[in-house]
Amino acid sequence: MKISVVGTGYVGLVTGTCLAETGNQVTCVDIDERKVNMLQGGRITIYEPGLEKLFERNLKEERLQFTTSLADGIRDAEIVFLALPTPPGEDGSADLKYILGVAEDIGKLLQDYKVIIDKSTVPVGTAEKVHAAIARNYKGEFDVVSNPEFLREGVAVDDFMKPDRIVIGTTSERAQKLLTDLYAPYVRQGNPILFMDERSAELTKYAANSFLATKISFMNEVAQLCERLGADVDMVRKGIGSDERIGKRFLFPGIGYGGSCFPKDVKALVHSANEVDYDFQILSAVMEVNERQKQHLVQKIKDYYSGSIAGKHFALWGLAFKPNTDDIREAPALEIIDALVENGAVITAYDPEAMKNVKTLIGDKIRFAESQYECLEGADALIIATEWNEFRTPDFDKITSALKEMVVFDGRNLFDVAAMQEKGFYYESIGRPT
Ligand code: UGA
Repeated sequence: MKISVVGTGYVGLVTGTCLAETGNQVTCVDIDERKVNMLQGGRITIYEPGLEKLFERNLKEERLQFTTSLADGIRDAEIVFLALPTPPGEDGSADLKYILGVAEDIGKLLQDYKVIIDKSTVPVGTAEKVHAAIARNYKGEFDVVSNPEFLREGVAVDDFMKPDRIVIGTTSERAQKLLTDLYAPYVRQGNPILFMDERSAELTKYAANSFLATKISFMNEVAQLCERLGADVDMVRKGIGSDERIGKRFLFPGIGYGGSCFPKDVKALVHSANEVDYDFQILSAVMEVNERQKQHLVQKIKDYYSGSIAGKHFALWGLAFKPNTDDIREAPALEIIDALVENGAVITAYDPEAMKNVKTLIGDKIRFAESQYECLEGADALIIATEWNEFRTPDFDKITSALKEMVVFDGRNLFDVAAMQEKGFYYESIGRPT
């Protein structure tokens, strides 16, 4: 099939590349000329495991191409994906100016039937707005479909190629048929394509992310209780997660959820609820708990040093909001840095992928190390903020000899508490005995 993807951000680039991988002819459109030149020249613009290989192969085979021209990009396409940013406004509402702007332009360019797909996370009612924006300039037949993306950064290629489910919001039979054919190669294992109306599809995305964020905040509160009651959150997590109704996944307490999706989407759903006079109380609590949790590790550090951390030097492992990404949007590590530096501490950080982005954002507010061990040299303690695999089984002798004191504050529960104590460390983690 001939496909166009408008927007070459994270979702757009993964979608375009993965659709090319199964033989479709994909043209990606972006207004950023520098980015388009880079991509067309074979240089990938995001870090995502497994994506580069697919990107290079499909570019070489000329199934994947990039342009700044919307007209050229969509001319021959049967399906046009919109993968555009929806930045949150002050009040948490999603700003639709990019999506509606492109929809207006598409309306001016359309000459035949096409399916226009909202791939971005957009508030309920957006498909109708996109339809209206196109229809202002184009009077022929077309369909607007809500087809939210559920991919996770770090495993995005796998999530796209083998999705748990595909949600398609449209009542148009013509669009349903086209999309069933498009997605057939991705659901060969029998995972469902769920057809529904546009509004339900749009809400499904927000509800999914908000539910997952709720699970995390719930477990962060259970972890707080564990610390106060002398229980072990690892045990409680396994104890409840073995119940299939609860499920094992997404029950890991830590330093709060981050990233470009959960914080934005939970806030946007609360805002949408308010707009229709509904107070979504659980989600307001989910946000509050998350803010509190981001400061929890900082409080533990302050407590250890009896309130004053001025002049202390901390080694920080991990900056990305989660492993296998260089994404630092809403990363809890950044709030931890802010709080520690404000209190007069000095930080040397190491992250396998995210240091460049943090340098661009905060400059020389902290120092950066070339390796996880260099990071420790002369530090008073080690703080862990992201659970990269390479931090999981480190050389403890190197940690011991580099640190001034054997003190570790672990926001991701990487190590066994008893084993750390046996090695002689003072070890603080989340929701487990000290
Ligand atoms: C999330 C969803 O998982 C995807 O399904 C969705 O498509 C995506 O948002 C989106 O809307 O685009 P993502 O933000 O990439 O994906 O990251 P997750 O793996 O979901 O992690 C989000 C945050 O939750 C991270 O900060 C992570 O550290 C935290 N987390 C996750 C926990 O604190 N505990 C857990 O048990 C799981």
